Amino acid sequence: MIEFRDVTLAYGERVVLDRLSFKAQFHEKVAILGGSGEGKTTILRLVLGLVHPDDGKIIINGQDITDLSETQVRDVRMNFSIVFQEGALFDSMNVRENVAFSLREYTKYSEDEIEERVRSLLKRLAIEDAIELMTAELSGGMQRRVAIARSLAAGEPRMMLYDEPTTGLDPLTSENICKLIGDLSTGEPPGRPGFIIVTHKVTDAARVAERFMYIRSGRIVFDGAIDALKNTADAELRSFISELHVA
Ligand SMILES: Nc1ncnc2c1ncn2[C@@H]1O[C@H](COP(=O)(O)OP(=O)(O)OP(=O)(O)O)[C@@H](O)[C@H]1O
Ligand SMILES: [Mg+2]
Repeated sequence: MIEFRDVTLAYGERVVLDRLSFKAQFHEKVAILGGSGEGKTTILRLVLGLVHPDDGKIIINGQDITDLSETQVRDVRMNFSIVFQEGALFDSMNVRENVAFSLREYTKYSEDEIEERVRSLLKRLAIEDAIELMTAELSGGMQRRVAIARSLAAGEPRMMLYDEPTTGLDPLTSENICKLIGDLSTGEPPGRPGFIIVTHKVTDAARVAERFMYIRSGRIVFDGAIDALKNTADAELRSFISELHVA
């Protein structure tokens, strides 16, 4: 379980998160919605212990990670996979090397084991044929698939974190990535891996998530299921989700 308890974070004068609190089980399918700059990426960075709150606590699996050292937080991070905004692949490496990166960096697998693991991941994501291609040679959708494969390389996460996984993709490719995100989290709770998808693409969030949070001015102003989201009385949120009402 992830718990944020009154988490406050500011960059200089700019308060990004203001006593923000929520709890989520690892198997949940959560979408964090909100406008640009509202702190969505920051929440994922806090979960991974990449940044630390100014005030409040972050508890993962019963462990307070708020002030853990970089070495201690590494074990906690193993619960998660992360696909960063824009995929963030290494341009100078081909697909194989991109996916193998964390295996080389953080595990003691032999070269044969690495090759086998990379191939099986690429196969799972239906991009096995792209193994020799360089990042620049991939379509946007394939780049996202490689980024997802890379995020899964280190092991089976208990929860996947996706930061704007479909932003910049055409509607059909977005739909395919959403389907993939759904497929990677199949199974029954509590055993299945869940995810947090951070996005401002409401339609994509509605395709995959079961719980929706909307962030405004550093707080969660909505937290609920799709029906409640569609019927919200909050005028600004209604406008944010208006595309859901197009029949
Ligand atoms: N390292 C940093 N230093 C200073 N300000 C930062 C830093 N990282 C983020 N911010 C600021 O914090 C706020 C929240 O950023 P964040 O990236 O979490 O927003 P976001 O909701 O993910 O936005 P977007 O939808 O554009 O990705 C923004 O105003 C941003 O400019
Ligand atoms: Mg962001």
